[in-house]
Order: sequence, then C-alpha cells, then structure tokens
Amino acid sequence: MTIADLNSQYGQPGLSFVEGGGGLTFAEIDNAGGHARICLQGAHIVSWTPKSQAEPVVWVSDMAKYGLGKSIRGGVPVCWPWFGPHATEQGFPGHGFARTTMWQVTGSETLANGDTRVKFMLMPNDQTHSQFPKACRAELIATVGATLQVELVTTNLDNEAIEIGEALHTYFRIGDIGTATVTGLENTGYVDKADGGQHKTQSGAIAFSGEVDRVYVGTAAECVIVDPDLKRRIRVAKTGSRSTVVWTPWIEKAEKMGDFGPGRNNQGGWREMVCVESGNALDDVVSIPAGESHTLSVVYSAEPM
Ligand code: BG6
Repeated sequence: MTIADLNSQYGQPGLSFVEGGGGLTFAEIDNAGGHARICLQGAHIVSWTPKSQAEPVVWVSDMAKYGLGKSIRGGVPVCWPWFGPHATEQGFPGHGFARTTMWQVTGSETLANGDTRVKFMLMPNDQTHSQFPKACRAELIATVGATLQVELVTTNLDNEAIEIGEALHTYFRIGDIGTATVTGLENTGYVDKADGGQHKTQSGAIAFSGEVDRVYVGTAAECVIVDPDLKRRIRVAKTGSRSTVVWTPWIEKAEKMGDFGPGRNNQGGWREMVCVESGNALDDVVSIPAGESHTLSVVYSAEPM
C-alpha cells in the first residue's frame, strides 16, 4: 500500500503515515496523551513520549540504522517466533524474523479516551516460511496515549500445537544506568547469560555496575524502573508473559555493537537506556493448541517520584 492509500484508509485525527529513515514507512501518532512513531517494518514502536514527560519513555538510539532488513537499535523490537539465538539453526536471525519483516496495517481507531489504536499483521514471505514452517498469524496492536499498551497475538492456524518464544524487547530512556534500579524481580530465579548461563536468584532490587543480560523465568510480576536522575518511575505491567529479560550491554559490548551513539551527555548512548523485556523464553516458551491464540500484553506508564 502507498502512503497515500494508508492515510486515506487508516488515517485518523492524530494518526498519519509518513516516509522516514531508509525510505521506510512510519505511523506517526500525536494525540492529547502522547506521541509515538511506529515503523511498519517490524511493527516496531520506535519511540513513545507521554505528554506528561519532557523525555521519551521509550528510547531509540540517535545512531539507529533504518533500512530494509535491518533491526533498529531502540524502541520496542518484536522478538518472534523465537527469543535469542534459534535453538538449532545458527544461521537464523537472533530474536526471530518479526522485527525485520514487513507488517501490514489492518486497522486503526480513536478510542473514547482519545487514545489511538493501530493494528498490524506480519506478512509472511518465503524466508519466514522456510524458517518457521507453521500456519500461524502474528498481530500487534499498539494503543498510544498517556500510557502505551502493546499486544502481540499469535494465532495457531495449523492442525497441531505450535511452540513460540517471544518478547517485547523494550528500550527505556533513563537518566543514567549507574543510578537507575529495577524492582519487581526480588527473589526470582534467572539465567545469567553474562555469566555462562548459570542459574541464580535475584536478591534485592537490580542495580547496574557492569553488563547485565538475565532471563528471569517463571515470573508474571510487574516491574518498575526507578530513575532518580529523571525523577520518575516507569511501570511495566504484563499479562501472558512468564519471562522478563533485563539487559544493559555496558561499554565494551555497546562499542562493539556500534549503533548506540554518543548519547545526550557524550558518555555513550548505552548509559541512558535499559531494556526490560516482557516475554516467554527458555522453559517459558508457549505451546499454542491448534486453532487457538495466545496474547502477550504489556502496559507501560510513567509517574513522577
Ligand atoms: C537481549 C539479549 O534480549 O538482546 C542479549 O538477552 C542481546 O543477549 C540483546 O545482546 C540485543 O540483541 P540484538 O540482537 O538486538 O543486538
């Protein structure tokens, strides 16, 4: 669909479709509650700023690469239908193909409270079929306003159960990684990917003084990012999710990755973000019976502290 067609079929007050970086198409939402940009490649929410906040809540790197088949550093990458490396095929893309595949807009509406809702459906192609040869549908519903809700719905159209791993790999803007903490995962078991995959248990709030790459398992808990620098709390409340991934690359990995940029204070963009990812990974992968659907849903909000 052309941008003109998208605007005439799905445009709303506060929702328009525009061409952006790399020639990609973006849904641009600006309503009374908030502002967001969503790239049709990946159904990737690139940024979200509630009107109550001077700083974005969902962070994107200034050096993010936009282009066909490239994943964007920041925003809300959709990891699907597997999380992390593929279980058996090393050549398959990390975190699945959803974030680099085109999605199609299938609906839009303005809710009674003024929020804007946009619906997307992943468009399967030869590559997605060869990497995940199952009959199934992935849909993403983004509801943007003073809060941000993201729903990822997987429907099994096959005649046998399918298994999926998934995550909404959200990057949050924080003042500084050295002072932010994450609460909600106290006493929860995790797999420490930065320490050889050892199984450990979280004691107290999570604070950061080096690389953290942890998959917390068997947890439906709400998490809160406490940010004394920006004087706010970001709340991450989820359903249909049993895993929470907490990730910061720290300096060495961030420099190797090369797309974090210098950041606002020139101390490295990686210092001003943290990922708290809601999903189903490792032993929490989801089995969906034939003909049924599974929904992962997350509501993000920010409040002063
Ligand atoms: C996290 C993983 O979810 O994503 C990390 O746990 C990974 O191991 C990170 O480095 C970023 O992944 P990518 O593929 O977007 O660079």
